[in-house]
Amino acid sequence: LRENTPVRYDEHRECWDVFRYEDVQYVLKNPKLFSSERNRTSSSMLTTDPPKHKQLRDLVNQAFTPKAIEALAPRIQQITDELLAPHLSNGKINLIDDLATPLPVIVIAELIGVPATDRREFKHWSDVLVKGARDDSEEAFQELVQEKQRNMQELYTYFAAILEQRRAEPQEDLISLLLAAEIEGQQLTTEEVINFCILLLAAGNETTTNLIANAVRILSEQPELQLELREHPDRVASAVEETLRYYPPIVAIGRVARETVELNGQTIQAGDQVISWVGAANRDAAQFEHADKFVTDRKPNRHMGFGFGIHFCLGAPLARLEARVVLHTLLQRIEHIQLVSETELEPIQSAFVFGVKEYPV
Ligand code: HEM
Repeated sequence: LRENTPVRYDEHRECWDVFRYEDVQYVLKNPKLFSSERNRTSSSMLTTDPPKHKQLRDLVNQAFTPKAIEALAPRIQQITDELLAPHLSNGKINLIDDLATPLPVIVIAELIGVPATDRREFKHWSDVLVKGARDDSEEAFQELVQEKQRNMQELYTYFAAILEQRRAEPQEDLISLLLAAEIEGQQLTTEEVINFCILLLAAGNETTTNLIANAVRILSEQPELQLELREHPDRVASAVEETLRYYPPIVAIGRVARETVELNGQTIQAGDQVISWVGAANRDAAQFEHADKFVTDRKPNRHMGFGFGIHFCLGAPLARLEARVVLHTLLQRIEHIQLVSETELEPIQSAFVFGVKEYPV
């Protein structure tokens, strides 16, 4: 597709697909031509354009700077150790259920300021937020819509109560920071603060789970990488970057054309949906040497696993840190990481997400 039809219209899905690195980058760096404002009920920074987008993003940037996030390293290590400990003695761990899923949920919960006792419900809500339908039927779709609506109501009620507590007694958490923040002299409304918390759950949990799982998957598919990284632990950070290129947790990013625009010889009409295939761009030989090879210390590595341009992933420093801590820890504590034999890998059913449902090692 990237070679022969780099920009093509899919009649069935009624959208444009963009596959080449250069074209994907062009779409993502031109919010004036390609809007993020999709048909969504709640508006968050992910689905807004400038100037509103910058206002929302500036508010929270300070909580997500590499420096602020680096301070979480000891706590992330502690949670990782605790999650791993019960499994070390029997030599087997269900990587996704036992480690890669709970770790980001606990970290986000603590960052936002959700009490530890509510963590189980919190995880459930966060799962439903990103859940897909069980099959293609209309019935399954309706069921999912209803489940998601109930879920949203529960989340709103839950966060509204926490917001009230934090208004009365501010703490050192993100909710308190957002409540105190102002845009042009105006404080955020309760709804805006809640929307932002919900965005973090939706954007940060399953993605980080899949980054961790995809990274470990490569280490077990290519065991020589385990030896390399044990010998060169300083390459773990770049191995995480290469995972984001080679097995990106998000493979496609949606936009809507604002005006009629030419792209690689095709005419995209105003109002058309445009899907940027990051997964394809990340393997484009015009940008990456040996694009289909996993190179732990690839330099430079301008992958688009976290997107590109103004919507570049806010949580990138956090996701990177969590993946690094987990890889370092597994390589230190486990002599040889290997997929439990005869496991059939089952892909997550989603057009945008790349990952598997279970990965026992
Ligand atoms: C945006 C991927 C982890 C919060 C994005 C975008 C991508 C992405 C591709 C751009 C979307 C677009 O352009 O429309 C990922 C991946 C992650 C990850 C692969 C894990 C490996 C996180 C985490 C958080 C987070 C941990 C928060 C704690 C966000 C937010 C945005 C975003 C708030 C919207 C930023 C904006 O619109 O300015 N992410 N993400 N993400 N991500 Fe992540």
